[in-house]
Amino acid sequence: MTTSQVKGTAQKYEENALKDAIAILDFGSQYSQLIARRVRELSVYSELLPHSISVQDLKRLNPKGIILSGGPNSCYEEHAPRLDKEIWKLGLPVLGVCYGMQLMAHDLGGKVEPAPVREYGRALLTIQHHGELFDGLDPTMESWMSHGDSVVQLPDGFSTVACTADTPVAAIADHERKYFGVQFHPEVVHTVGGRELLSNFVLKICQCPKNWTMSRFVEEACAAVAKRVGDKRVLLALSGGVDSSTLAFLLHKAIGDKLTCMFIDQGFMRKNEPEWLVETFEKEFHIKVNAVNAGARFISKLAGVTDPEAKRKAIGAEFIRVFEEESKRLGPFDFLAQGTLYPDVVESAGTTVDPKTGKPVAVKIKSHHNVGGLPDDLKFELVEPFAKLFKDEVRLVGKELGVPESIVERHPFPGPGLAIRVLGEVTEERLKTLREADWIIREEVKAHGLYRQIWQVFAVLLPTKSVGVMGDQRTYQNQIVMRAVTSEDGMTADWARLPYDLLAIISSRIVNEVPGINRVVYDITSKPPATIEWE
Ligand code: XMP
Repeated sequence: MTTSQVKGTAQKYEENALKDAIAILDFGSQYSQLIARRVRELSVYSELLPHSISVQDLKRLNPKGIILSGGPNSCYEEHAPRLDKEIWKLGLPVLGVCYGMQLMAHDLGGKVEPAPVREYGRALLTIQHHGELFDGLDPTMESWMSHGDSVVQLPDGFSTVACTADTPVAAIADHERKYFGVQFHPEVVHTVGGRELLSNFVLKICQCPKNWTMSRFVEEACAAVAKRVGDKRVLLALSGGVDSSTLAFLLHKAIGDKLTCMFIDQGFMRKNEPEWLVETFEKEFHIKVNAVNAGARFISKLAGVTDPEAKRKAIGAEFIRVFEEESKRLGPFDFLAQGTLYPDVVESAGTTVDPKTGKPVAVKIKSHHNVGGLPDDLKFELVEPFAKLFKDEVRLVGKELGVPESIVERHPFPGPGLAIRVLGEVTEERLKTLREADWIIREEVKAHGLYRQIWQVFAVLLPTKSVGVMGDQRTYQNQIVMRAVTSEDGMTADWARLPYDLLAIISSRIVNEVPGINRVVYDITSKPPATIEWE
């Protein structure tokens, strides 16, 4: 299944890699990855490819159909991202979404212009001719729009098949050539019937077999890893999170004791977690874990450090030092296993384009520290079996491999751990305060049955103090921020509308049970403009 390669190396396309699958050509929409996920939810494999892919490479991959994503550009602009026009001669079914539909119209002889009314948000779609694409859908449906341009003239062979009040040409079709375009976003949940529409395209029009299943993935990934590793040794840095734990299970199944798991305890884990991790893996899963207690080393590096980026860098640098020492002690190893996921790979492949120049863009908001930041001279070969999976697919793989729910359904936890949730200087005492508050928050959210509906819920300790009253005493103490967000992928997030009664219980427990805290506040900012973590 490997077509593109990881960071920094040129894209390579393996023959027939998309034989039963859909190629999504990415024009830079924020929803491009979502299209890929929606297709995979239909049990059909799909990959995001740069829109600039050549017709030869696409032919090599041999997909059964093509989806053109949306994007921020106007297709008549000078720098607008375009397709290799030979792709139109492949004879494959094509679905253009938003910009993809406009480009289809533009390339094939139609006309696109700025719309008199910019349509953004929900719009009622009226289907004038169902055809294969809208087969089985209601005559009117709610759709999600986000466009400033519209198709005003159709290419030969096309007809308009749906409209909204503001957009007379909201969907187009050339049934003969199996070309379809939709101005709205079927991949977004607000489009009622979007899933059925994509299913019509992928399963009926492109006739893709439903063979992308996690059991097949596990089988193939195990065979591939076993073949590649042979009798050499693999090192895995385990963190206890979903990705590294699932990876440990997969590798253990594939190569048994040729796998060595190392767990570096930086001292920034949540309450009881280091002990829990080692015990559970060894006693329940029979996977040996080499635990390294490096808490004292890490905290000494953070003395006096308050700037978030300086903190992240100091932790990252120390992690590399400990990792190098320990891997030498436990080694030698030929391979390093990493839980790199598909979004990391596609982002680093530069498929997001600048609307003005058409060039790839990458904006750094925070220095994420993962094992991926290790120096090149460590001379490991990388094993990254999840490089084609989305997070929710890793969870399914975990379930397939028997990873317990308590790990599979875990919330993401940042590499630098609680150190970036203790705002200001990190000390043992402040970490302890945060751990206790965090424990209460998660315990109550779980007890109310809401943990699984939330992307992340956690506590942040502020360095500021405020006045309170307890009994008859004036207090002057720190505050805990409670942060709970819902999200699909961590790229955007909304603050969770938790019940007031739950917030009240948490607040009163924290103030009563955690020494040094006299006030609890709830963060009601979404991402953007805030980030999920506070540092
Ligand atoms: P932000 O704060 O950027 O976080 O909105 C988005 C998601 O990423 C997690 N996060 C990290 N994960 N290493 C990680 O592996 C890191 O350094 C890191 N920093 C943030 C964060 O918890 C959220 O899920």
